[in-house]
Amino acid sequence: MVCYICIFCLILINLASSTDIADHNRRSTSTCPCEDASLCEPIPPAKGKTRLAYSKEPGNWKYYDFTKITEMVLFFDITEIDPEIVCVAHKYNVQLHLRGCFGNETFRNSTKQEKWIQENLKLLTDYHLDGINVDYERPRIAQWEPQLVDFMVELSIRVRSMNSNYQLTYCLPTDPLLHYEMVTIPTVMDYLMIMDYDHVWDIHPNHCFATANQQPMKTIFGLTKYMSLGIPPSKLVVGMPWYGYLYNCDNITSSGLCSLHNCPYINTRQSIIPKIYENYVVNGNYEFIQGWDNETVSPFLTIIPKDNIDSFPRQFWYDNSVSLTRKAEIYKPFQIRGVGVFHVDCLDYTMDQSMVTAYWNFFTVFQD
Ligand SMILES: *[C@@H]1O[C@H](CO)[C@@H](O)[C@H](O)[C@H]1NC(C)=O
Ligand SMILES: *[C@@H]1O[C@H](CO)[C@@H](O)[C@H](O)[C@H]1NC(C)=O
Ligand SMILES: *[C@@H]1O[C@H](CO)[C@@H](O)[C@H](O)[C@H]1NC(C)=O
Ligand SMILES: *[C@@H]1O[C@H](CO)[C@@H](O)[C@H](O)[C@H]1NC(C)=O
Repeated sequence: MVCYICIFCLILINLASSTDIADHNRRSTSTCPCEDASLCEPIPPAKGKTRLAYSKEPGNWKYYDFTKITEMVLFFDITEIDPEIVCVAHKYNVQLHLRGCFGNETFRNSTKQEKWIQENLKLLTDYHLDGINVDYERPRIAQWEPQLVDFMVELSIRVRSMNSNYQLTYCLPTDPLLHYEMVTIPTVMDYLMIMDYDHVWDIHPNHCFATANQQPMKTIFGLTKYMSLGIPPSKLVVGMPWYGYLYNCDNITSSGLCSLHNCPYINTRQSIIPKIYENYVVNGNYEFIQGWDNETVSPFLTIIPKDNIDSFPRQFWYDNSVSLTRKAEIYKPFQIRGVGVFHVDCLDYTMDQSMVTAYWNFFTVFQD
């Protein structure tokens, strides 16, 4: 459940009108925010490995380390962009990508599809961006397959004819269940962003314990399947999580496992380190046991209430710079194109600078 449902995108589609299209040429030369106007030109894709970051907070870019990445998806309402990010990102040769969201109504109606393409191409030029990351996270209906594929083929032609520096990329789940998306779509995309997170939703009812957000065994299983479908590893980017899962435990077993209540219904929610710190660490009402699971190559924190302030213990499974680095080193021999992080605003940039630096340093596993 990464890229959520883009309510904004739907609104945008509905608001798009033919006058926008007539407006296109004038607006496309929208004022360059950079002192050096050449920084507003689309920049070519990086030649080496891909190091992609998803940004969800338009105001956080000043804290990012652009020397560590090659591209960034602006995963928010693009009208909220701070225009200056373009100057800085492009100065460091980092491409900025628009998130591309749509519903089935877009590719099932040629009028709407054309409107979507024109609107999004306009956003690319208006905001001086370098590509689109397509994220269609909706139910897949077999009879709509050809239309979705045609839409992606058309989008690719249009994006590439507009500027040869533009990249077009596509989000897919860990396990390639949908074979139809595996034939034509990969050939028209620069790469596929495999969302290798949320691996927690298939916990076995007979082994109901808290577990890691990204599990290398599942990632590798998925990568192998993609490759067996003929997709070259050079088109696969492995998505890594910077968020974790907080579980309510029935009990902590003698070996430190968190047994889950009401299994197979999984009582868990996504969380991030700053929230754990805020909710459990600072108030002093909890004890903590730091754990490490070799099988999933992941750390976890057992959170035990003191003085019965809560009736149950918790466990937070997350990724830190050590687990991210080790996992990336496990995937690297598969000759994948690189890694992507969802998302870089899971850190509190005002909190612990050494932690921030360590997380961003993880990208260097794929720095050539
Ligand atoms: C198709 O799109 C319509 C209109 O947005 C929506 O109501 C419907 O739920 C969608 N169907 C599927 C299966 O996604
Ligand atoms: C396609 O969308 C357009 C614009 O929203 C609408 O006018 C038209 O009726 C739709 N066509 C079909 C077949 O639904
Ligand atoms: C809870 O864990 C303890 C060990 O920490 C174990 O002795 C006990 O049997 C467990 N209780 C249940 C209900 O699983
Ligand atoms: C965990 O993995 C590390 C590195 O592979 C290894 O050195 C260590 O012995 C393992 N620990 C356990 C308990 O399996």
